[in-house]
Amino acid sequence: MQDNNRDGFSSRFGVIAAAAGSAIGLGNIWRFPYVLGENGGGAFFLLYLLFILFLGVPLMLTEMSIGRAGQRNTYGAFRFLAPKKKWYLIGIMGVVGAYMILSFYSAVAGWTLQYLYDAFANNFVGKDPVALKNVYNAFTSSTYMPVVWTLVFLFLTGLVVVAGIEKGIEKYTKILMPLLFLIIIILDIRAVTLDGASEGLRFLFHPDFSKLSSKVVLEALGQAFFSLSLGMGTIITYGSYINKKENLFTSAVSVSLADTAIAVLAGIAIFPAVFAFGIEPDAGPGLVFITLPNVFQQMPGGYFFSVLFFFLLVIAALTSSISLLEVIVAYFAEELNMSRLKATIVAFVSVSILGAMCALSFGPMKGVQIAGKTLFNLFDYISSNILLPLGGMLIVIFAGWVWSRKSISKEILGEEEKESFGFKLYMFIIKFIAPFAIALVFLNAIGLLKF
Ligand code: PFF
Repeated sequence: MQDNNRDGFSSRFGVIAAAAGSAIGLGNIWRFPYVLGENGGGAFFLLYLLFILFLGVPLMLTEMSIGRAGQRNTYGAFRFLAPKKKWYLIGIMGVVGAYMILSFYSAVAGWTLQYLYDAFANNFVGKDPVALKNVYNAFTSSTYMPVVWTLVFLFLTGLVVVAGIEKGIEKYTKILMPLLFLIIIILDIRAVTLDGASEGLRFLFHPDFSKLSSKVVLEALGQAFFSLSLGMGTIITYGSYINKKENLFTSAVSVSLADTAIAVLAGIAIFPAVFAFGIEPDAGPGLVFITLPNVFQQMPGGYFFSVLFFFLLVIAALTSSISLLEVIVAYFAEELNMSRLKATIVAFVSVSILGAMCALSFGPMKGVQIAGKTLFNLFDYISSNILLPLGGMLIVIFAGWVWSRKSISKEILGEEEKESFGFKLYMFIIKFIAPFAIALVFLNAIGLLKF
């Protein structure tokens, strides 16, 4: 039964737009290019696409089904669907993951706000690639502004979340995501016509299999899940707001497609420029921030496009961070009986402290390291490469082996439909392929299994 008091999305486009809003974000435009650059290019890209297709899409469909059937936050959904069993631990892992991701995510979103300001003030004009690299390094290693911007960003996220699902999240994503799409295509056109662009395209599209290693495989899996917001209950939480009439298969495929398209388009905008301007493809988290201001300077209307781009990047980050905060707030509000306002304030304050520490990880807190990683890197590593794959694996095991096939088919196919070929294939993947594939990638990377 649909609980009529629960906030929900008002239209089909609203659901897809909000889930796409969660998926499309810094993960596509900031993280994808830099992780791809660090992992050798084309071979990573190919794996990433395979993981999206064979693991990401089925997992997204599964998360949407669990959420809609459970009608609750992730923790509550598992308690409801499997009472007296421990599957709700996936929900706890999700809340921990949301904390970690939101912390470093808001630090990077803070950089984006600074870059929006710089673009607006025309501060990049006349700077060569080396100077632009120095701008990035000087800013990210400074003390005050990275923290201030992180807090500003988190505050904005909190404001939208307090307003609730329909009024907050849906309204913003509907108009602005398509605009982001458009502006990246314009950037692509400029990037591929730069001198030396072909080397960048080759780096992206030509798989060099000698670059493959167990680490690269895990990074590609982690990036696929991170980009689609999978493995930690975000899509379960959003799924609980999806109207019973919606076709989940269409929603999952559209969201995955839109997300992948944006990542690929971002790659096409960035790598030709990386090579054209002599930037190292494995420059790390600064890659996009160093590369794109160079491109803007080389295009007509660069001022206008740079302001618009960084504005849209902030919005894309916001629609993702909203979904992360929503995981925490829905848990606090529904399980710990807090009002929505109190839950948001508690979450905002606690994430702010961790977010500020992540923002300082490139400057004053650079030396504070655990297992050789700054807090920023540690949170990123644990969430993307451990919690998301592990969460994703447990979710497909739950759906394939614990939850009844009838309930899944009811969510995906509707009340009385008989199982289609597509549904049978999906069940086969989540039962037999996905859990083992994820386990293999994982065990191989942590060295427990070598092949
Ligand atoms: N998918 C988002 C991005 O690509 O920017 C990041 C993200 C949001 C990851 C929500 C995980 C999540 F649950």
